[in-house]
Amino acid sequence: MTPQEQSQKTRALCRIAPVIPVIIIRDAARAEGLARALVKGGTPVLEVTLRSDAALDAIRAMASVQGGHVGAGTVLTPDDAKRARDAGATFAVSPGLTDRLIDACTEIGLPLLPGTATASEVMRALDAGYDMLKFFPAETIGGAPALRALGGPLPQVSFCPTGGISPGNARDYLSLPNVICCGGSWLASETNISAGNWDAVEARARDAAQLSG
Ligand code: 3PG
Repeated sequence: MTPQEQSQKTRALCRIAPVIPVIIIRDAARAEGLARALVKGGTPVLEVTLRSDAALDAIRAMASVQGGHVGAGTVLTPDDAKRARDAGATFAVSPGLTDRLIDACTEIGLPLLPGTATASEVMRALDAGYDMLKFFPAETIGGAPALRALGGPLPQVSFCPTGGISPGNARDYLSLPNVICCGGSWLASETNISAGNWDAVEARARDAAQLSG
């Protein structure tokens, strides 16, 4: 799958809901309940970060939840991409972009949402064929004003900003013409996951699903 085709897929996924929950899960037994709550709340595109031993089992469990679109986050290497795809992930998110990751995702047909932080990184991703990008770590690198400014010379790129985004500032991003959705971990807090507090997760997802610019 070419990078252009990968970006078509990730763009379509990013259009499904205004927020992609970024999930850090430490107990795969919680995965299915968590995914059900997020899907029910209206945020069905899920990024499970490969930051815990439970992540791949969690992806496996979530992949069976109807209505969900489960991807892997923190995909750093070709091996990460392959393991994520084998576990059932249908897309991958990375904090950056490497040649090895481009080659791996192209070869195995896993749509990649690569991370960028500067104009040169955006241009490099465009050169490779990606025009749907993550902007990371969004708040730290200038936030919504920086993304607005990038849209001047690079209007052909769409972004999913992630990092430091909350219900308090999400609208600042979502109102920009070059932002399709945001990523954020607030929907799936560690406290609510470990307590199995799915009503609270669903409520946060419901609020996030209503966000717009
Ligand atoms: C991350 O990599 O953890 C994501 O960017 C989520 O960031 P957040 O916790 O600030 O939402």
